[in-house]
Amino acid sequence: MADDAGAPASHVKPCYAELVAGRTYLWCACGRSRTQPFCDGSHRGTIFRPLPYTATADEEVLFCACKETRTPPFCDGTHNNLSTTYEQDDPDSPANRAIPAITAGWGGKARLDGGCTVCSIDDASLEIRGVIRHRQIIGADDGALHQSLFYLECGRGSSPVAGFGDRHVILFVTSGQGRIVIGRRVFAVEANTGIHVRPGEGFRLENDGSEPLHVFAAACPRADVISWGDTMPDRFEDRFPQRTVTLDPAARQRIGDRFFQMLVDKTIGSDVVTQFIGDIPQSKAMPHRHLYEESLIVLSGEGWMWTERLKARVRTGDTIFLPRKQVHSLECTAPGGMLVVGVIYPGDNPSINY
Ligand code: FES
Repeated sequence: MADDAGAPASHVKPCYAELVAGRTYLWCACGRSRTQPFCDGSHRGTIFRPLPYTATADEEVLFCACKETRTPPFCDGTHNNLSTTYEQDDPDSPANRAIPAITAGWGGKARLDGGCTVCSIDDASLEIRGVIRHRQIIGADDGALHQSLFYLECGRGSSPVAGFGDRHVILFVTSGQGRIVIGRRVFAVEANTGIHVRPGEGFRLENDGSEPLHVFAAACPRADVISWGDTMPDRFEDRFPQRTVTLDPAARQRIGDRFFQMLVDKTIGSDVVTQFIGDIPQSKAMPHRHLYEESLIVLSGEGWMWTERLKARVRTGDTIFLPRKQVHSLECTAPGGMLVVGVIYPGDNPSINY
């Protein structure tokens, strides 16, 4: 049991716990227990009963502490939307004013605490492969364990075939218009399209227009090289026919004062890797952590990325890497807000934080 084990029932964040395979845990459902998140018998005389959970493996979990989750005993992010508990941080508090700003160093990266990075892409750092200019942005050098991120810029024409072996590849088109060929299938793509290429499949970008097609590709688990070739692998998993997702205002979900829409997720067959697009108003979130590794691309707006001892400027076009469990807070300083697209892995819900 970890740091939040003794939190009172009114604690607004979930309780982190390290579980042992085969052991059964009794989650407090009534909120009265003084040994949160576990039952201490205080439910006696109420209609509540503790909920048992048997760990199937040694695992790290977040037990719900607010007792409002729809997926008991685990947190589903609902605590963020409880009007009595959601808080913002004050970037001008004395403690925050003492945190120094750092600037980018080698590779255009500002390196914050715990391996968190903010990266700006410049032309000089791009490699050329046919009509593609590309570079790796997140990888082993950053301490990434679960995902890597690549930038691809496709000029007019047809790209070589790209592949990442047995990884899931989650792409996002930031600008331009064209097509992606996956195996024997062709999909039209444009700005704000999320794309899923499944393990073992290859893909090729096609661009008939005069403007480049700008694309980010996250490989999960991490891959540090793109396998380029001329021949498309004869593989397309037909049981997952939908491979692209576009913006849909009706699909937006709220998380505190922020909104997000799932793009590539389990509804189209991506069970362990999730892509979302998020809308952040001018504000600073309270510092928090996630159990997943996360990459973010800033599509519009600007602000600051904060960790516990440092902060770095973020602007439109920058990318952010967040290791698991790293304390952080993203502040938007633009009156018009900030738009980001993110990939989380392993995970299926970007609103679960602690
Ligand atoms: S703590 Fe209850 S849903 Fe997160």
